[in-house]
Amino acid sequence: MDKKKITVIGAGTMGAGIAQRPSQSGFEVWMVDVKDEFIKKGFATIEKTLQKGVELGKVTEDQSKQIIKNIHGTTNMGEAAEGVSLVVEAIFEDLTVKKELFTKLDGLCKEDVIFASNTSSLSITELAKTTKREDRFAGLHFFYPAAINRLVEVIAGEKTSPKTMDNLMDISRTLGKIPIKAKDAPGFAVNRFFVPWLNEACRMLEDDMANIPTIDKAAKEAFGIGMGPFVLMNATGIPIAYHSQESLHKGLGDFYKPSAKLKLQFESNEIWDLTGEIQEDAIESVKERFLGVMFGVACQLVEEEVALKEDTDRGATIGLRWAAGPFAMMNEVGIKKSLDFVNAVAEKSKGTFKVPDILRKQAEGNKPWDLKTVRVTK
Ligand code: NAI
Repeated sequence: MDKKKITVIGAGTMGAGIAQRPSQSGFEVWMVDVKDEFIKKGFATIEKTLQKGVELGKVTEDQSKQIIKNIHGTTNMGEAAEGVSLVVEAIFEDLTVKKELFTKLDGLCKEDVIFASNTSSLSITELAKTTKREDRFAGLHFFYPAAINRLVEVIAGEKTSPKTMDNLMDISRTLGKIPIKAKDAPGFAVNRFFVPWLNEACRMLEDDMANIPTIDKAAKEAFGIGMGPFVLMNATGIPIAYHSQESLHKGLGDFYKPSAKLKLQFESNEIWDLTGEIQEDAIESVKERFLGVMFGVACQLVEEEVALKEDTDRGATIGLRWAAGPFAMMNEVGIKKSLDFVNAVAEKSKGTFKVPDILRKQAEGNKPWDLKTVRVTK
């Protein structure tokens, strides 16, 4: 990356946050949208985040002004494509619209420019095919809020070159992010276990195991988080939870089918009713079922080489702010007991979930997972 211009396409919820980071790290940033009013909205999002940063003493007023100044808003794609090194796409989650955009961009940008998509659920390999630079095309999946959340998944499509991956890992670090590598598989690494975690909360409700406040309380205790799955879905949107689960279902089979409760709630266009008395006697069994699903899916994705176990854990702690990741939690619970929880999920799944071999083997040896983590401070 010898040049210093980055273009972000889409100034929405994610695009604005994605544009802020490189500007903060000294890059020249171009933020593109289809209408001036959307660009204005993008700038308003950035200003709001920076204002909070000033209040918290993370940035000064002057720095905040400079960050805004480094970002150029435009509706002219040609202008944004000129002299750019990296284009990050963050437009609507629609395959046709994204494909049209990449075809157009491919004609506008120089050959060596890297394209990255922030898609949550579409195939990077499919998107790359619309360009003549499949080796210089990858996924850069940021997490909400993109300006603040430090996790980014760097996703290799079938033809993404190692050099492109290295470049994107480097540039992510330069932006102050913590990048993890993931394969181009449904849900990549984090959504692969996070979305089923939301779905399992709905399934437990469907099975009458407990009411909503009880399930939320159990999740908060088990994962060391501030919001349970139902409160979280009300905040981030039930449609996104439903669509994400449906896309896992299509790609990975019936174990990932959206819960009937989730489907109904999505169709009703209402948020979850969070009221009710906590049922203390149900807390432990709810926790075990959450852990069983999450351990099982995490082992499955590592077995399929979607991500390393250490990166899966970092996805959970950095991206989702869980107190610990699935593998560290299995070590805490004990591998044999973890296998028991996963076995219970597999039995209930009517053959749609197979206990991953890596977990079975680990339990045979009765040893904790070996988690290699090195933290570098510069
Ligand atoms: P959004 O709806 O807030 O913003 C999309 C923006 O793209 C809009 O301002 C729209 O006008 C603009 N746009 C649409 N077509 C365009 C085009 N052809 N050229 C230029 N601009 C165009 O959407 P959001 O939530 O920011 O999502 C964007 C992408 O990020 C999606 O692929 C989504 O799956 C992904 N994502 C979303 C996350 C979230 O929490 N919202 C998390 C991680 C990824």
